[in-house]
Amino acid sequence: MVKPQLTDKERAVYLSQDEMPTHWYNILADLPEQVPPPLDPRTLKPISPEPLMRIFAKELITQEVSTERFIKIPDEVYDAYVSLPRPTPLLRAKRLEKYLNTPAEIYYKCEYVNPTGSHKPNSAIAQAYYNMAQGSERIVTETGAGQWGSALAMAAALFGLSCSVYMVRASYDQKPGRRVMMETMGADVVASPSKKTKFGRSILEADPNNTGSLGIAISEALEDCLAHENTRYCLGSVLNHVLLHQTIIGQEAKKQFEMIGVQPDVICGCIGGGSNFAGFSYPFIADKLKGKCSTEFVANESKAVPSTTRGVYTYDFGDTAEMTPLLKMYTIGHKYEPPPIHAGGLRYHGKAPSLCLLINKGYVSSVAYSQNEVFEAALILARTEGMITAPETAHNVRYAIDEALRCKKSGVKKIIAFNNCGHGLLDLQAYDAFMNGRLEDYEPTNIDFPKLVP
Ligand SMILES: Cc1ncc(COP(=O)(O)O)c(C=O)c1O
Repeated sequence: MVKPQLTDKERAVYLSQDEMPTHWYNILADLPEQVPPPLDPRTLKPISPEPLMRIFAKELITQEVSTERFIKIPDEVYDAYVSLPRPTPLLRAKRLEKYLNTPAEIYYKCEYVNPTGSHKPNSAIAQAYYNMAQGSERIVTETGAGQWGSALAMAAALFGLSCSVYMVRASYDQKPGRRVMMETMGADVVASPSKKTKFGRSILEADPNNTGSLGIAISEALEDCLAHENTRYCLGSVLNHVLLHQTIIGQEAKKQFEMIGVQPDVICGCIGGGSNFAGFSYPFIADKLKGKCSTEFVANESKAVPSTTRGVYTYDFGDTAEMTPLLKMYTIGHKYEPPPIHAGGLRYHGKAPSLCLLINKGYVSSVAYSQNEVFEAALILARTEGMITAPETAHNVRYAIDEALRCKKSGVKKIIAFNNCGHGLLDLQAYDAFMNGRLEDYEPTNIDFPKLVP
């Protein structure tokens, strides 16, 4: 049903429960060329999926390599999505538009509307479900800002699994509320680098004050998984199956835009590993790949971790201890030590291989921001729309505001859409630091690029 654009009184587009998509969308079916395969670091040959069974649930590995365009959402996952709740609203930020005095229209998808406050449950629920279904007793993971860890802790509780989370030390110290949230849901939370793993101990011996990184926490979680037979590992971003689960966001958004007869001109989202951006944009990029739309896609990252804006497109390890296969991605090197920015979820040296391919082929562009400029934008959003976003999300708020201001200058009316992928209610120290002039901006001076594959 297409109805006219939102009237002056309307701000939100809702879908009913039975309009929620029943399948995830797999962009691997539509890419202009295949994503370069993960390589075995010893042989530099493509890895076979079998050895990964010890690490991931079997169904997730099947999804990782699948080229089926649509993959059915299992009934139990669908049911858990509905009670998050999903579908999530699409809002028009009319007060923000008015404040900016822009001819642009700004829309955002409300992925913060669930108990843990971000898009992460879309994959956490699926991953916990497949683990429960195959009889895993325990799942283990890493978390940056704590959003992924909270989502997995919740999903583990829903499906009766034990859960352990290696939380990057910088975030563990900055966001005690996130730790308590995970513990409340029954998870065991360890600050990473930790003394629990051989790799964590080696890092602490060299540097007792190391603030950690997602790369280190992934290595620790993998080591833990391999040491416990009843345990499987879950990853919160980067891999195809994680991006796949997030496409529920973009498929809903597409229906919502269709309902009001609006086609976005610009779609933007922040990128840590790339999952929320991919989940929001891939269903729209599917149309672009078929020449059916001219929407522009812009990924927003941190200047402190500039993987796509200053990195190289090459094979690199996914973790710091070199335990993962090599992935072809934009990277600033798996040994890079990200500074302790508050957007903990953006402190990852690489990005999802499918997204990197799309950036490399020119379908997606990227822009980097420093933390003071993104918090300035987040404050504008809070003071116009009454919405306090996560520090990660503030990066796309910055881009959306800048684009709307460019529209003001040029007089061009564009439809700008961003994924409001998390609230910042457990990130208030960061807002406090910004408002009191205590936030530092960081940018690497020298980047040590990996040269692992000739
Ligand atoms: C709210 C929020 N947004 C974005 C991200 C970045 O991750 P991704 O690029 O996988 O969406 C995170 C990661 O923790 C997050 O918590």
